[in-house]
Order: sequence, then structure tokens, then C-alpha cells
Amino acid sequence: MNEAQKYRAIYREIYKNSRKFSAEEADAEIDFVMELLTGKKAHKIWFFDIVSTDSLHKAQDIFLQRVETMKPLQHILGQAFFCGNRYFVNENTLIPRPETEFLVKECIKRAPRNTRKILDIGTGSGCIAVELAKVFKDSLTVAADISEKALETALSNAELHNAADKIKFIRSDLFENIDEEFDIIVSNPPYIAFSDKNEVQKEVYDYEPHSALFAEENGFYFYRKIIEVAHNFLTENGLIAFEVGWKQAQKVSEMLSEKGFSEINIIKDLDGINRVVSAIKIN
Ligand SMILES: C[S@@+](CC[C@H](N)C(=O)[O-])C[C@H]1O[C@@H](n2cnc3c(N)ncnc32)[C@H](O)[C@@H]1O
Repeated sequence: MNEAQKYRAIYREIYKNSRKFSAEEADAEIDFVMELLTGKKAHKIWFFDIVSTDSLHKAQDIFLQRVETMKPLQHILGQAFFCGNRYFVNENTLIPRPETEFLVKECIKRAPRNTRKILDIGTGSGCIAVELAKVFKDSLTVAADISEKALETALSNAELHNAADKIKFIRSDLFENIDEEFDIIVSNPPYIAFSDKNEVQKEVYDYEPHSALFAEENGFYFYRKIIEVAHNFLTENGLIAFEVGWKQAQKVSEMLSEKGFSEINIIKDLDGINRVVSAIKIN
């Protein structure tokens, strides 16, 4: 057994003793933290590479804190992965989710030709805005959020990814401070109905900002508000794309259809859940 493997046994013991995690969950978390700390893939860490004692001790502290507080690992580390890239996260931002990568992919796939302007409503950590800014190299993205503190984190992420000169950060309650037209409007808004709050994982409820999670009108408030006026902010053939909750795709599609949007598309995530709804503005 090499040094890293000895420590892995200690980490597993920490999780096991806490009784809060299955063996699979523990292994997934151990690999995630070690990859973040070392920048190397898990199989290399455990079998091939020498890991510094400092990193091994640091990881141990992180696992002890994790099982004691149940704080999300991303908050303990201050970082998360999105589309394979690192993002700063904290108590003011939602932790980017893998499902949201489907929203980014849909925007890339259905973007109007010559996309120049993109609006990301509820940018949070800025993960969607940054990923799109990296793909649409000649574009300008407006990243809007009601939370000043989330916008500060989003700016740090744009700087981290050398995209700060292609993103304008605006504090705005939805379209309140927006007065331009865009080729793409994208949003992963808060969409959990308050009545579903008991179904939310405890660590999400305890540590993630409620203003990023919950929405009035049974979770549909932000979709309704955005769809109501989106026409005024989209160019001809412009794309609108939303992430939606597991039982929301049908209704959001209907809302888009009622407002005259065309080519409505629903995309499933890896669990087979309807996760993204997109549509085109054609007059
Ligand atoms: C579900 S999070 C999405 C964060 C990020 N875009 C992502 O996908 O990881 C929703 C975001 O909407 C923001 N938000 C909530 N109410 C808003 C409003 N009225 N206007 C603009 N943004 C709002 C929250 O602050 C939060 O950052």
C-alpha cells in the first residue's frame, strides 16, 4: 500500500463512522476532493502518483468538516466543477449542477447564426455566462442577477476564465435594468415550489441561498415573468432557453407557445428527466 492508499483507508473510515453516507457516496466525495486538491484524475492519485503529505492532511481536515457539519463539499472547498472547469462558489451562489450543462449545450446547438449578444438571467456563479462567452468568441454576454454578492463571485469566475472583457455584469430584478436586444436569452431561474421544500435535500436547504432555489406560483413565477416580455428583448430568430424542474417542462412549453414562440424543444438530462425547454422567436 502506498501513502495515498493508506490515507484513502483513513478517509473511508471517517465517512463510515459518520453513518451518513453509503460507501459509493464516500468514494465519490473522496475522489472529487482529491481531484480538486491535486488537479489529477483519481486513478492516477491512488495508483501512480505521489501525493504530498500536505494535500493528504488537508483532505483529511476537509472530510472531518464535511461529516461533522454536512456542509456541501463545494462550499468547504470554495470551488465546484462545471463543464469540466473550476468555478468559485460560496454561500451567495448556487453550486452549479451537472444538469445545467444540458442548458449550455442546447444554447450552443440552437444559437442563431452570428450570435453576438447573450443574456443570462439569474447568473449566480456566472457559470452559464462564462461557458457561453468562451464558445461565442465574438459575442458580448450580459450576466444579470438580483444579488450583488452573486455578481461579485460571477466576476471572479469571469476573470478566472479570461472572459471578463466579454461579459457585462448588471444587477437587475429580471429585465428591470436591461434595455437591449439579444440573440439568446438563457435562464436557470429559481424553480422549486415553496410547497416542495420538504423534498429538498437538507444540505441544500441549509447551505444554498433560498433566493436561488424557491419561486412563487408553484415554482413558475420566473418563467411566467420572463416569457411575458422576452419578445421585446430578443432579435428575430432569437433563442430562449430555460432549465426547468422535473415536472415543469410541459407547462413552460405551453407558456412559450401561448406567447407565439416556435420550434419548442424539450431536452432530457442523463436521468431521463425533461430538463431544458428552448424555443425560437419568429414573427
Ligand atoms: C437557480 S440559480 C442559477 C444560478 C446559475 N445561473 C446556475 O445555473 O448555476 C438562480 C439565480 O437567480 C437569481 N435571482 C433570483 N431572483 C432574481 C430576480 N428577481 N432577478 C434576477 N435574478 C434573480 C438568484 O440570485 C440566483 O443566482
